[in-house]
Amino acid sequence: MDQSTQIRLTREVLAHLDNRTTDLADEVMYHDIAAYASPQRLALEKQILFRKYPLLMGMSGQLCARGDYLTDDYSGIPIVVVRDRAGAARAFLNVCRHRGARLVDGCGNAGRVFSCPYHGWSYGLDGRLMGIPDQDSFTGMDKAGRGLVELPLMERDGLIWVLPEPDGDLGLAKHLGELGPELASYGFGDYHHYETRVIRRKLNWKIVIDTFLEPYHFGVLHADTVGPIFFPNLCLFEGFGPHLRETLPRRSIETLRQQPEAEWALVPHTALVYVLFPNTVLVMQADHVETWRVYPVDDKVDECVMYLDFLIPEPADTDKAKLHWDRNMDLTIRTVDEEDFPVGEGIQSGFASPAQTALVFGRNEPALAHFQRSINEAVAS
Ligand code: FES
Repeated sequence: MDQSTQIRLTREVLAHLDNRTTDLADEVMYHDIAAYASPQRLALEKQILFRKYPLLMGMSGQLCARGDYLTDDYSGIPIVVVRDRAGAARAFLNVCRHRGARLVDGCGNAGRVFSCPYHGWSYGLDGRLMGIPDQDSFTGMDKAGRGLVELPLMERDGLIWVLPEPDGDLGLAKHLGELGPELASYGFGDYHHYETRVIRRKLNWKIVIDTFLEPYHFGVLHADTVGPIFFPNLCLFEGFGPHLRETLPRRSIETLRQQPEAEWALVPHTALVYVLFPNTVLVMQADHVETWRVYPVDDKVDECVMYLDFLIPEPADTDKAKLHWDRNMDLTIRTVDEEDFPVGEGIQSGFASPAQTALVFGRNEPALAHFQRSINEAVAS
């Protein structure tokens, strides 16, 4: 984030503290619960949001070496992302072109080729079909046309984006718009992967993202975890097309009052929450980065799966460093997985009751309203 933006946002936070205010939406928003409970709505989301938009698949630090790969099945199609021999990140459908077996699971290093576990066909890291056991039995087959099917991918500023449609147009610069330079400013390419966890929960995928989009609940739900670190019910909101930035100030921001404005550094005194539309929450914490990449599970409106990725500025080479980051991860899990998500599951089960047909978003929840409105607009277009 550039210095002038850090100064502007710090001024806004300090003014809110002086006036006991927060950023407000223009009006209260009523949000139909069908957005979380309708199978037709989920079908549209899968068809549009998880096919037509670039999805964040990870950070450059997750694919450090030639041959490093990671897989992702949750967009609805099996994807493998790999660092090829020339150092470029590439994405392929994780499907063997013989009889369709999965090539690899999880993440790891493929070496020089992907070797199919079924009959042993092998593919270069550029997707080319290299080897066929008993090749004579496939005489006449167009070997060159039997490489892995490639997906559009762009690695930009340390972030790896994939469009889960082979012939689609990634259009990343247009998609990120004015948010692109701000993301670039963080130097994500220099971060190191610490840990990824996969979490499954019985709630609609968008409720996971809603969880991050207001601090109105901090003083109540998180009274014993992150509540004391932040100001409850105080945030800044800014939309960037369908994306957004929510600034959650830490109590330590008050110390900036003693420093000249030109020296103000906002990041150490906040959690900066970005929604990278449609399904990623990127949290710029004071000393590390978390990404939450959230997907629906199959055709279930009330089930989701997410990757929580922890990226850190230096490699964790010592026991002391590992202890520090394990504690950080534990606090994150205790706050979100043990406090937020159980509430979210209760919300989801309440949708089956006749309690109400719409949720209400207060004016003090502008980021939440922006996210849900952006989803509404995308699936309606
Ligand atoms: S399905 Fe992969 S080699 Fe046969």
